[in-house]
Formats: sequence, C-alpha cells, structure tokens
Amino acid sequence: MCSHARNIDHHDPRVTALAPGAGPTFRPAAATGRPPAPTPPGTAARRVANFRAGPYPSGVGPSFEDVKAAAAVIQSGVAYSPCLASQTLSEVLGTSVVLKFENHQFTASFKERGALNALLALSAGERRRGVIAPSAGNHAQGLAYHAERLGIACTLVMPRFTPNVKVMQTQAFGAKVILQGETFDEAEAHARSLARENGPLLIHPYDDPRVIAGQGTVALEMLAAFPDLEVLVAPVGGGGLLAGMVLAARGLRPDITLYGVQTRSYPGVHRALHGLPDEVTAPTIAEGIAVKRPGDLTLAVLKKAQTEVLLVEEGDLEEAVLLLLEVEKTVVEGAAAAPLAAVMHHRALFSGKKVGLVLSGGNIDPMLLGAVIERGMVRSGRLVRIRVEVRDLPGALSEVTEVIGNTNANIQEVQHQRAFTDLPLQTTEVDFVLRTRDQSHVAEVLQALRTAGYPADQHNG
Ligand SMILES: Cc1ncc(COP(=O)(O)O)c(C=O)c1O
Repeated sequence: MCSHARNIDHHDPRVTALAPGAGPTFRPAAATGRPPAPTPPGTAARRVANFRAGPYPSGVGPSFEDVKAAAAVIQSGVAYSPCLASQTLSEVLGTSVVLKFENHQFTASFKERGALNALLALSAGERRRGVIAPSAGNHAQGLAYHAERLGIACTLVMPRFTPNVKVMQTQAFGAKVILQGETFDEAEAHARSLARENGPLLIHPYDDPRVIAGQGTVALEMLAAFPDLEVLVAPVGGGGLLAGMVLAARGLRPDITLYGVQTRSYPGVHRALHGLPDEVTAPTIAEGIAVKRPGDLTLAVLKKAQTEVLLVEEGDLEEAVLLLLEVEKTVVEGAAAAPLAAVMHHRALFSGKKVGLVLSGGNIDPMLLGAVIERGMVRSGRLVRIRVEVRDLPGALSEVTEVIGNTNANIQEVQHQRAFTDLPLQTTEVDFVLRTRDQSHVAEVLQALRTAGYPADQHNG
C-alpha cells in the first residue's frame, strides 16, 4: 500500500462515494447545519466601504489590532465564507473537524482578504501609480479583481508554470500578466525590478503587514463561528496566512494551537523555523505554496509565536483533494488540501481534538483534478489493470470477458499483447482496465479468472 494511503480506509463506505452505485451516502458539511454568522454574509459584488487605513511604518510587523481593523475594512468587499463542522471527516479521522471554505470566495481563495486590505490603504496618489505583484496565482486574482473594482491599474508577474486557469482568470479582471521565471522567487525578483520609484507599488503576496493582517481575518471568523476550536491548521507558502492567523487567534485565545503545513517538496518555512538551510525543491501539485523561503515579517511572527510547520507528502495532498471532493463535494487546489493532508498524515497529533482546517483555495486546473481523481481510483481499487494469459484461439477472449462480466466488473479498455511477451506463441497476454468497487472486488475478479483456468494478476505498474 502506498505510504500516503495508510490513514484512510477505502473500504469505509463513507469514503467511496464516487464509486458507481456506492453504498450509504453521507452528508457534506454544508448539510450539517451552519452556525450563525456574526455578521451577514458579504458578497463580492458589493461595494467596498471607502475606508482608508493610515500609513504603515516600513519594517514594522502587524499586530492583533491590525487584524481586527482589517476585518472592519474588508468585510463588505469579501465573502463571509462558510465555516462548518464535517460529520463524516470527523468520524473517519477520529477528530472533530471544522472546515473554513475560503474556496467560496469570488476569486476562490482567501488571498482577496490581504489584497483588498492593502489596496484600501493606498493614498489617492498611490492609487494613480497602480500596483504590481509577483504571484503564483491566487494573490494575482484577488489583487486583480479588487484593483479593477477600485479603478487601480494592476500588473502581475507569474512564474511560467502557473496553471492556465489562474492566468486566464487574472487577465479576465483586466490585469496585465507577465509570465517570467521558473519559480515564484524568479517572478518576485522581476516584479521588484519593475516596481521602481514612481512606478507601480509592490503589493507583496505575503511579506506585507497589511496583507498579513487581512489574511488573519480568516481566523477571526473561524473562532467567531466555533469559539471552542482547540487547533487551527493552515497551508503555508510564504507564511502570510499563517502569520495573520497566529496574530488573530492568539489575540483572542492565547492558549490556542496553530499548525502550518507545507509539502515536503517545498519545506522552506519548516526549515527556516528549524534553522536549516534551503533544500532542493521538487515538483508539487500545490503550486500555491511552492515558495522557497518565507518572508522576513512572516518568519518573525511565526518564530515569536513558536509556530510549528508540519510536512506532508505529495500523495497525502492528492488523497486529501479527492477526499474533500467525495465527502464534502467541494473542489480544492493542492495547497488548500494541505491541512486535511496533515490531519491524515499526523493523526496522533490531532486525535480527539476540535480542529479547524482552512480550505484556502479552489483554483485547480481541471486536467490536474482529473488526474488526481483517476490516480485516487487506482489507489483505492476502483480502477485496476489486470493481465490475463489467454490461449490465442478464436472465442478465447469472449470467454474471458464473460468471466469478468459475471463478477460485475466493468471493462474499460482491452489490449492484446502478442509481440512483447515471453509466453509461448500459442498464448497471448491480454491487459484489461476494469472499473471495480474496491480491492476485495479486484481479488474476486482475479479468483474467478484463475478458477476458470486463466492465470491472472493485478498489473497497475
Ligand atoms: C490556495 C493557497 N493556500 C495557501 C497559500 C499560502 O499563503 P501564504 O503565502 O500566505 O503562506 C497560498 C498562497 O498563494 C494559496 O494560494
């Protein structure tokens, strides 16, 4: 079994909703009853209050007061996203799980909060200069959307690997997009070089006190909806979200525990907090948190609060994306799956606690989502490839398909192997891709074939 699959029981009927004709259905969090929101939900289309924050001294970190001020400033410009208990995830994980659906924001991520807070703090002269930002995608969309609404010119520098969906949606908000560099760090260097004197103002995606304060409002809302949360968990790229949440949550509840989560492929903040040098990075499905190094401001906040950053594997992220789709019927991107992946991977740490997870964004490329679903089907035995030895005679194949059909497995693909095999000439190997219910159904198919005289094996590799 894959290491990342060890924590979820795929035979549990509650985690097999995608299987055709799957057993008992279960209620997503949305149906478990929403706690009353302390303020009415805002809609992204509503007008932003014409509030101006005062000037912020450079190099000074944000405070709890700044997060509260940000909440007042942005409340009519961003959605008050749902915060709901998940009955099924709680049962499956042995932890009381609460989800904050930031993927419900208009641009589908929490990034609007910090971007709007920063934009609303600009003076009239600064607004005329316009803004520029490096972004792996979500800050870009949040900034572009609110800049357009406020009539501020906006340029974004994105790494070349940024998913098309993020690039196109940013352009749709009238922003200029420059694709530059292989990584976020290269895009950042380019954005800084363009943000010259009298040029556009840089609004950094995480190392900006107003952005950090804006992101912290996520934690205020979570604790307003569920004041008894014991642990908050958020994904970490540059650390803006977690730093803001630390300020907000510790301001309200000094005893609360917060964990950040990074993928082992990009463990920058984790390593910085442990005084370790940068590590070579690896490909990840969580491009939203593929940041090599934390910001100075964010690291200072996280260090002072002694925040821990947990690491998860890429497979954990894939599994968490799929679990949220199946159980909650909600689409999250890889980065946003990190908190759930952490609860799955580090179960003992969360066992029996009341844990709030931030589903930070939903901007996943549909092709990637498709691949994640397909790979998840393979891992859980719902899509399987088997190899069967068949006598190379007329009618033999139809006998094999009949045996398979009698087990109620559905044949998706068939491939004959005559040339690339070590078997005697009169024998051929046939690969079947089958849709099955689970691993026990796969075992049943193989047994039926062997009993009927056809050597057969699972062949997923
Ligand atoms: C979906 C998502 N989650 C989490 C993060 C991490 O945010 P931060 O860079 O503030 O740590 C990002 C950053 O872009 C993101 O897009």
